[in-house]
Amino acid sequence: MAVIDDALQGAIEADKAHVWHHMTQHKKFETQDPLMIVRGEGNRVWNQDGREHLDAVSGGVWTVNVGFGRTEIADVVRDQLVEMNYFAGSVGTPVGAEFARRLIEKMPGMSRVYYSNSGSEANEKTFKIVRQISHNHYDGKKYKILYRERDYHGTTITALSAGGQDQRKGQFGPFTPGFVEVPHCLEYRSQFGESTEYGIHAANAIEEAILREGPDTVGGLILEPITAGGGLIVPPAGYWERVQEICKQYNVLLIIDEVVCGMGRTGTWFGYQQYGVEPDMVTMAKGVASGYAAISCTVTTEAVFDMFKSDPDDPMSHFRDISTFGGCTAGPAAALKNMEILEEEQLLENSTRMGEYLHGKLHELAEKHPCIGDVRGKGLFQGAELVVDRETREPMPESVVQAVVADCMKESAVVIGATARSLEGFNNTLCFAPALISSTSDMDELVAAVDGALTRQITNK
Ligand SMILES: Cc1ncc(COP(=O)(O)O)c(C=O)c1O
Repeated sequence: MAVIDDALQGAIEADKAHVWHHMTQHKKFETQDPLMIVRGEGNRVWNQDGREHLDAVSGGVWTVNVGFGRTEIADVVRDQLVEMNYFAGSVGTPVGAEFARRLIEKMPGMSRVYYSNSGSEANEKTFKIVRQISHNHYDGKKYKILYRERDYHGTTITALSAGGQDQRKGQFGPFTPGFVEVPHCLEYRSQFGESTEYGIHAANAIEEAILREGPDTVGGLILEPITAGGGLIVPPAGYWERVQEICKQYNVLLIIDEVVCGMGRTGTWFGYQQYGVEPDMVTMAKGVASGYAAISCTVTTEAVFDMFKSDPDDPMSHFRDISTFGGCTAGPAAALKNMEILEEEQLLENSTRMGEYLHGKLHELAEKHPCIGDVRGKGLFQGAELVVDRETREPMPESVVQAVVADCMKESAVVIGATARSLEGFNNTLCFAPALISSTSDMDELVAAVDGALTRQITNK
């Protein structure tokens, strides 16, 4: 164990005294130190004791797509900050314009980029766009926004109003009115019994909600391309085609939340591109600059954008929204270099290849461990749902799942994730989302850690 120097010891004390950690019960820090991550390189991070870890969750929440320690991103950000660090988003900047151009090249059918600085905020913009279109074009009637059970779109009260995770919402109500839930599309937990057309059933449930609410009242539908924190749900066959049809039929704007799946995570630039979807709006954040700067984007079609310039004499008709830090140039500067790295190092292709490798290895692991009920994922975004009994599919208790996560960390120095305090009774899916630079030997190390943890925490218990 490395000796902790005075500066680091001081930082640990300051953290214990003053930092309020996200999603953390702090009582335990009265008797133990918090984990501090002090350095990163590639897909490895080092803690305060100097211990090296394989980070199989890209910075904890699937963000650092190109890996840690990228001096080339740091360099362009530094140069940009010296040149011109900030101006409000009501004007243009060369770097903001250039990233928008490069981004739109990757998104055929899309046209406009609105900058802000978190996934929640990017999603809030889409809700405001739907609401303003409703006011300006539909007498205020088409204001409702549908969201899906198990999906997550952010942490603000209105993003939570569109959240399909009961535990994330718990104690934060009352919520913003006008948000309506539709059923999830996880076939392993089918709500429609056994069906050869589960995807169609799940999508038709959206149509039912639209008809129930009244099509002239529903303005938008927000969906994750692959549900992330809600249990890694890969949409079933036929689902997206039918969703697209329904949105077109009832004139409902289709909003895709790419905050997690965007920028190559699943092997294509965006998750929706795996399914041939044509969205009206797309949001993105985490992987856009791999955490080297805070940036999020709300991207729309020209048709959506056009609705805000139809009446230039009306001072209320343009999109009256602002985001102070949406004007930080570090975001697009880092995002441009991030995109260049993804292309030059062919990391989308690597995500597909490594994802298939990991998927296969997880299936092999399932042959050995009956507690793995289902393996799901696309590219380097993979999950394993743990069950007490494969026949009944009773979910593994969250405490056991968390013990598996902790075991990987303690025994193997591998950081993995799991659905956590999201869904009452269903926080039972392990999550693996390493940086897109990862190799087969990294995947072997990851799977060996999970194998050991399942053996110690479940099989041999
Ligand atoms: C799918 C999805 N959308 C939105 C968000 C919110 O992003 P942020 O935490 O940057 O506000 C998250 C965060 O995990 C997410 O997983």
